[in-house]
Amino acid sequence: MTFENILTRNENEISFITINRPDKLNALNKKTVQEIGGAIQAAIADTSVRGIIITGTGSKSFVAGADISEFTGLTVEQGKAMARAGQEVFKSIESSPKPVIAAVNGFALGGGCELAMACHLRVASDNAKFGQPEVNLGLIAGYGGTQRLTQLIGKAKSLELHMSADLISAEQAFHLGLINYLTTAEQLLPKCLELMEKIKSKAPLAIAGIITSINAYYTEGINGFDCEVNEFGKSFSTEDFKEGTSAFLEKRKAKFSGK
Ligand code: COA
Repeated sequence: MTFENILTRNENEISFITINRPDKLNALNKKTVQEIGGAIQAAIADTSVRGIIITGTGSKSFVAGADISEFTGLTVEQGKAMARAGQEVFKSIESSPKPVIAAVNGFALGGGCELAMACHLRVASDNAKFGQPEVNLGLIAGYGGTQRLTQLIGKAKSLELHMSADLISAEQAFHLGLINYLTTAEQLLPKCLELMEKIKSKAPLAIAGIITSINAYYTEGINGFDCEVNEFGKSFSTEDFKEGTSAFLEKRKAKFSGK
């Protein structure tokens, strides 16, 4: 698959997706959002891939938001369609059965913050800045930001960030629970790889079950406890369950096949 605005490569069972519009601080135009969706689907379908890392080109910006130049002249219906399309792609990231880590290497604003929040885990370098500044444009977040920021940091702080348009440092983001780890710029990728290696060493179907069950909590109309019962039960039919329990009893390290 060839892309115009993103770079993709697979290495060591990890699919790397890099948003590549450095002249525009990696702002997400429609095409870029579509391409991210395509790359995520390809990574999920590729049996040689065990995890996905998303980052931005350069040292200044992860993603500085949706591309503001595409907002001009949109009608109400076109605005809704844009939000729906973005939300669909970001949902496909959140519901990916393979772990997705955001390596936040700079500005994560508006759609950039929303993209990072759609990932399962976030690691940010100390130059990163987070915010939902759409209100400065007379807009609100449209790619899930009102929901995911609230889920991650709570209602009061989410309301404050959305309504004030304040940008916060990576350190503040860490203290708010918005990111999992804070690193130097040099350590950003190594930390993401360390995390991914740890998760890759676990049973893939169980990882998928964890993602499904935890996501259920945030999905209207789905009982998360019932979902957990279902996913827990399913685990017993897997080869990985047999391998995990045998390895424990035989005092050796488990080697999971994802079956
Ligand atoms: N959409 C479209 N273009 C964007 C963009 C966005 N969200 N963010 C940055 N750019 C473009 C700029 O227009 C500029 O392009 P140009 O060189 O062709 O004029 C280029 O990226 C560099 O940005 P610039 O503003 O010159 O960099 P800076 O270091 O002075 O400021 C930011 C960086 C992130 C503070 C500033 O670019 C900004 O506020 N961006 C918008 C953030 C935002 O509101 N995001 C939410 C959108 S819904």
